[in-house]
Amino acid sequence: MNSRLAVVKVLSQVTLNGRNLPDAIAHYSDVIDENDRSFIQAMSYGVIRFYPRLQFIAKQLISKPLKTKDQDVLLLILSGLYQLIEMRVPDHAAVSETVKVTKALKKPWSKNLVNAVLRNYQRQAATINNKLDKNAEAKYAHPYWWIKLIKTSWQENDRWQKILNANNINPPMTLRINTRHIERENYLTQLKQLDITASAGKYSADAIYLDKPVPVNVLPLFNEGKVSVQDEAAQLAAVLLNPQKGERILDACAAPGGKTIHLLEQESDIELTALDIEESRLQKIQENLNRTGFKAKLLAANAFEPVSWWDNKMFDRILLDAPCSASGVIRRHPDIKLLRQEHDIAKLVHDQAQILNALWPLLKPGGMLLYATCSVIAEENTLQIQHFLQQQTDAALQPINTDWGLQQAAGKQILPGEGGIDGKNGMDGFFYALIQKQ
Ligand SMILES: C[S@@+](CC[C@H](N)C(=O)[O-])C[C@H]1O[C@@H](n2cnc3c(N)ncnc32)[C@H](O)[C@@H]1O
Repeated sequence: MNSRLAVVKVLSQVTLNGRNLPDAIAHYSDVIDENDRSFIQAMSYGVIRFYPRLQFIAKQLISKPLKTKDQDVLLLILSGLYQLIEMRVPDHAAVSETVKVTKALKKPWSKNLVNAVLRNYQRQAATINNKLDKNAEAKYAHPYWWIKLIKTSWQENDRWQKILNANNINPPMTLRINTRHIERENYLTQLKQLDITASAGKYSADAIYLDKPVPVNVLPLFNEGKVSVQDEAAQLAAVLLNPQKGERILDACAAPGGKTIHLLEQESDIELTALDIEESRLQKIQENLNRTGFKAKLLAANAFEPVSWWDNKMFDRILLDAPCSASGVIRRHPDIKLLRQEHDIAKLVHDQAQILNALWPLLKPGGMLLYATCSVIAEENTLQIQHFLQQQTDAALQPINTDWGLQQAAGKQILPGEGGIDGKNGMDGFFYALIQKQ
């Protein structure tokens, strides 16, 4: 399939059928040429990332709104605009190759429209950019409700604007090295020998930032399970939970198992239970265990209802990497902007509270619970923990004394982009709160 046509198909799956981007791309994997895959991926992710802005621009240039049945033509126009604005495709090729797709869509009537809109954009770019600055959705490239929500949590120092901007920047590919097996410096040298430029992360002793993403199969020791792909902020969980030899540990929302494996890399001699409500996602944990050679007890179960799965033996430590809005990882999953709905947030906050309260009795006195989210929304984070501490009199918040993150009333918040090296993008947005049972 022509790559630009494939992009329109993928975008339709996301915007009309509510599929997420990886699933939408996988849906067409049989008809996509392997050589086109990264172009299709870059363009699909890019159009979704800037969707509210591109839609605003298209609106300025299309006199009569397109009918619902012609949304594919609108998506084609958005992808053409994206190429002109953000991609290093020569302008003439961006226009002519995009216009050609009207034939493949079997909508030859739209040829002149697509051509006119893209050419008019080239002529009117300065005027349109001026207007764009006055419309929040277009300026920040987020739906209005997302802007409002993030603004409510981060008024001070205009941090909300920095967060919105950071959400629109391509994230780095970050690795986690099993430093029990190989020293980070040594691995960096191996990468250098392969002409893969990279640097060490500042906060996780195991993190390496690649200058450019590469397929995992070219990474030394990946197949041997000594190297994994994981954002640096996510790598801080296992260090904070600090597993000790012989302990019983619960990873309560574990799939696909990134943090499960890191806990085992930190201390392999633990009795680890990895639980997730989605049975299909447990398969991912198993694949990660197989690749890395570790063992854990896997349970497909609901963390709300320990009575249905718990063996009545208390845990020394619990990691609760809670289901959340994922507002801290929008840069990696830009489809969240469109697929998440405003009313989802209250339900997530409710579920997080329920899981926290359900798991608390499973923790030994003296034991530690680490609450984590990849969110930047106060209700899911510091407010959630403050509320929990008010309810549980035997819960004591522990200080997190680190040089990363912003101290909150309860817990520590990493904002997206923090900790970048040489002006490059750093970590995902993450929240951590460490609580000890009295
Ligand atoms: C943020 S993800 C976990 C990521 C994982 N810890 C990692 O590092 O790879 C949250 C997970 O919680 C699971 N989940 C959601 N509700 C749950 C529940 N009630 N009980 C158990 N797992 C749940 C989801 O299926 C999802 O896999």
